[in-house]
Amino acid sequence: KKVIHIVGARPNFMKVAPIYRAIAERTPLEQILVHTGQHYDAKMSDVFFADLGLPAPDVHLGIGSGSHAQQTARMMVELEKVFLAHPPALVSVVGDVNSTVAAALVTSKLSIPLAHVEAGLRSYSPHQPEEINRLVTDRLSDLLLTPSRDADANLLKEGTDPTRIHFVGNVMIDSLFASREKADKLPVLKDLGLIPHGYAVCTLHRPSNVDDPKLLGGLLSAVAHVATRLPVIFPVHPRTRKVISEQGLDSWFAQSPNLRPVDPMGYLEFLALTSKARLVLTDSGGLQEETTAMGIPCLTLREQTERPITVEEGSNEVVGTDPVRIRMAADRVLNGEGKQGRVPEFWDGRAAERIADLFASFLGVEDAPIQA
Ligand code: UD1
Repeated sequence: KKVIHIVGARPNFMKVAPIYRAIAERTPLEQILVHTGQHYDAKMSDVFFADLGLPAPDVHLGIGSGSHAQQTARMMVELEKVFLAHPPALVSVVGDVNSTVAAALVTSKLSIPLAHVEAGLRSYSPHQPEEINRLVTDRLSDLLLTPSRDADANLLKEGTDPTRIHFVGNVMIDSLFASREKADKLPVLKDLGLIPHGYAVCTLHRPSNVDDPKLLGGLLSAVAHVATRLPVIFPVHPRTRKVISEQGLDSWFAQSPNLRPVDPMGYLEFLALTSKARLVLTDSGGLQEETTAMGIPCLTLREQTERPITVEEGSNEVVGTDPVRIRMAADRVLNGEGKQGRVPEFWDGRAAERIADLFASFLGVEDAPIQA
């Protein structure tokens, strides 16, 4: 029996890698890896395959960028062909990107069972593209694999059949724990002239933050303030780079020599950087979780998070996008008054094993022990 995994955008790769490995090790299931091509730059895609030990995709759809409708529709047309040519027993999707929802729609229209890894997260911002992708994907999924108990509660509140919900833990943290030792050996800090815990890391890529030049300028002003206290390394997402150069916002970098833009980094390089940071400022979802798993202070530059456990239990604070509030929160952390946190339940490096066992038992291929 065949499982088809769908990947497309950067945050998918570190979620699928441990699942792929666990299925290969623990089950007789055949696996096919399909890359939609939503992300295509080597630094947004290829490097992750190498860093995570993911095999090259069996099928690459080469979809690329476009409006949401164009991108999602093109993916759907091509995915339908793949599912008809290689009929799977199960399609597995991860996260909340356009590749996720495109595959979910095609899978359910073909009456193929669908599993969603990282189900149940909700920001309750109805217009956020990822929120739409989450709602649709969860509604269509037969197996809802959740990273935290709050996700179970969200699904139950929406009337989801409880027998479909399985709390398995956080697969992205599986990748993090499996990779830390390798990352620690890289000379990233040395190459950038940084000392451990003597610098901050910033990432920004949410359309709601970066597409509006005024808002982005405000965020950069707050980050430039942080850079008056310690070096800030800022790997710049292609979407953000475009706005910065089109709107002349590079002046922030000229004024703040300690605010250092760099190209997007590979998985291991970036892990080496974040794991030794004194502070992370971000609007990423995954990074809120990774910093919580590592106990690194994180300031989330958004008004809400779909990952509240990182605030309730972890080292994350949601501080919004007001530059004054961000500066004050960063000063607090740098003055040693940041919050402490703990690692949430089942963020233990074994979520993918639980998922592999669930898939095996769902597909009746083997009497696998279900630990979730
Ligand atoms: C996508 C996801 C977002 C995720 C992010 C991680 C959706 C709706 N959004 O956002 O949830 O957090 O990935 O990175 O799926 N571009 C390149 N090279 C690439 C890919 C994109 O230059 O390899 C540029 C293109 O100009 C493109 C723009 O980035 O138009 C946006 O790419 P897109 O995949 O549409 O969304 P992201 O902002 O990357």
